[in-house]
Amino acid sequence: MLSLPLFAHSGRSSVTCEYRCGNACAHEAPNTSDNEYFGDVAKNVLSRRGVFKAGAVMAAAAGGFAALSGTTAPAAASPVALTRPGRPVPGTDFTPVAPNRADALTVPPGYRQNVVIRWGDPVVTGAPKFDPAKQTAAAQAKQFGYNNDFVGLIPNGHDRWLMVVNHEYTTEVQMFPAGQYDEANPTREQVEVAWAAHGLSVVQVEKDRHGGLKVVPSRYGRRITLDTEFEVRGPAAGSKYLKTSADRTGRRVRGTQNNCSGGVTPWGTVLSGEENFHQYFANSDKVTDPVTQARLKRYGVGTGTSTRKWERFDKRWDVSQEPNEPNRFGWVVEIDPNDPHSTPVKHTALGRFKHEAANVKITKDGRVAVYSGDDERFDYIYKFVSKGRYKPGNSALARRHNMALLDEGTLYVAKFTGDSPASEFDGSGKLPEDGEFDGTGEWIPLVSGNKSFVDGFTAEEVYVFTRLAADKAGATKMDRPEDIEPNPVNGRIYAALTNNTDRGAAGKAGVDEVNPRNGNKNGHVLEWEEARGDAAATKFAWRLLLVCGDPKTADTYFGGFPKDQVSPISCPDNVAFDPYGNLWISTDGNALGSNDGLFSVPVAGAERGHVKQFLTVPIGAETCGPVVTSDFVVVAVQHPGENGTPTAPTSHWPDGGTSLARPAIASVWRD
Ligand code: FEO
Ligand code: CA
Ligand code: CA
Ligand code: CA
Repeated sequence: MLSLPLFAHSGRSSVTCEYRCGNACAHEAPNTSDNEYFGDVAKNVLSRRGVFKAGAVMAAAAGGFAALSGTTAPAAASPVALTRPGRPVPGTDFTPVAPNRADALTVPPGYRQNVVIRWGDPVVTGAPKFDPAKQTAAAQAKQFGYNNDFVGLIPNGHDRWLMVVNHEYTTEVQMFPAGQYDEANPTREQVEVAWAAHGLSVVQVEKDRHGGLKVVPSRYGRRITLDTEFEVRGPAAGSKYLKTSADRTGRRVRGTQNNCSGGVTPWGTVLSGEENFHQYFANSDKVTDPVTQARLKRYGVGTGTSTRKWERFDKRWDVSQEPNEPNRFGWVVEIDPNDPHSTPVKHTALGRFKHEAANVKITKDGRVAVYSGDDERFDYIYKFVSKGRYKPGNSALARRHNMALLDEGTLYVAKFTGDSPASEFDGSGKLPEDGEFDGTGEWIPLVSGNKSFVDGFTAEEVYVFTRLAADKAGATKMDRPEDIEPNPVNGRIYAALTNNTDRGAAGKAGVDEVNPRNGNKNGHVLEWEEARGDAAATKFAWRLLLVCGDPKTADTYFGGFPKDQVSPISCPDNVAFDPYGNLWISTDGNALGSNDGLFSVPVAGAERGHVKQFLTVPIGAETCGPVVTSDFVVVAVQHPGENGTPTAPTSHWPDGGTSLARPAIASVWRD
């Protein structure tokens, strides 16, 4: 159906990788722990094989993980399962977009698009008109920030929503006209522009007369930046590890940064993950205490001078002067967009790592489970389960109660076990004899309230240095776990594992059934079902829905769907669901030569695994934040033109001509 133009793998320029994640891929992966390797997995698998094979057979028959859930999978009873092969299921009836390298947002025939808001557009009343040649920090603090990532829509009346957007990071070399920004010597004003371009934006949007979204003026307009005060909550609030000379209480943090993937809570707030916070800091190599040094290293906190040189303007970015400042980032933060004067919160109970997403599922007894990934090669998948119960309703009182749920509970990390013999995994991605990459898993408790379950770690240390605690607990090293989200229709959980080109490299963890490819450059998508369908369970059954890449190559797998009928997909990053329960996947870093994009894939019935590309984003951009309703799709176009240079830009999207490329939110709808 789609022929794949096999461009040479473009990769990204080293300049922009530096700004994006501190060149994470060029550095040693910080997880050097020896907590688990192939041999251990093999032993587990062999001893438990047979027990779970029955589950796999039932799963194939019922379209669900019946052995663990004890219930009929909802998908089996849904009309979707009755669809004949080749007939698009509701929500996926569009002609796929072909891979391309256009400097455009390309949508299927019959669909229209608009830009909802772009970097520099007004957010707060009184925001000055955007002028990149004369940008100031004061202006930027009222305007839409840079590099939009997660997008959350919170209903706020008929066809009206509060839209909350993360601004992950700044690429200073591309934010100022060529010649203005000297990387070696940024000015104070330029640095403060960058602080103001981080954080989040809240605006009110409504449907326009065409069918797309537009921003409407409201009292909700708000910018959260690196200067906004946050309240630290939960068991590590006030910890000695969070105290600095500017905050001797360890309870108040100035700002949030590198907010990547997120989630909307059932109580109408937004959770946002602080991801690559390590890259903003300088001089961690000058810290002499070996324990502190090991902790900084496990999080990859910057050595020497930082890329952005912020340490010259505020000593909090200099770890040799403020060794605890990095501990004040790497949390899940919560924003209440309904109250523009509310103080945003950092939730320590959810642990500290390079957080991706925080999506909530209510447990059978009314508590809340929150899923989150740690996006680094060989890092882990986590779940938090609250102690208290969710109070339905969207009153301010209910919201206050529900926000407090994330203050106390149990934090778990995931361990995956395959059900096929280890000898069947040679790293090529070849399916095992039972036809599926699948198995079971368990949630290993790390800490609950003030009780640590990890030898040698206090509860406080588990919360603040979660990665090191999880190493000790024997979690499974994954291929960059990014967004994780429960499917509201079938109740299963889906995670995007973006890639891991170090898998199987010398001295690194080898393949296992849940990460089955050496040098995994195209990523995969994981699906699991908690025991009894209960998000509070400590056991689950899992399988890979997609092993991404070129469908023409033997190492890819599309849920069993005929591979000659699917769109090529590479580097799954964010996941979302439409109201029919179809999975939508946005990509970051396409290793097949096309621009990144957004894809739909049914997860049940005859169309399960039928990946179709819905759109591509402009050259150099990553597709983020997808929101998919029955009426429209919203995507965040992050870092358009990032593969260019200031003097040789590759993108002028969305304004065209010779304009600076501007990260922006777009909506797409059927004409
Ligand atoms: Fe910010 Fe893991 O992408
Ligand atoms: Ca298997
Ligand atoms: Ca991302
Ligand atoms: Ca998501």
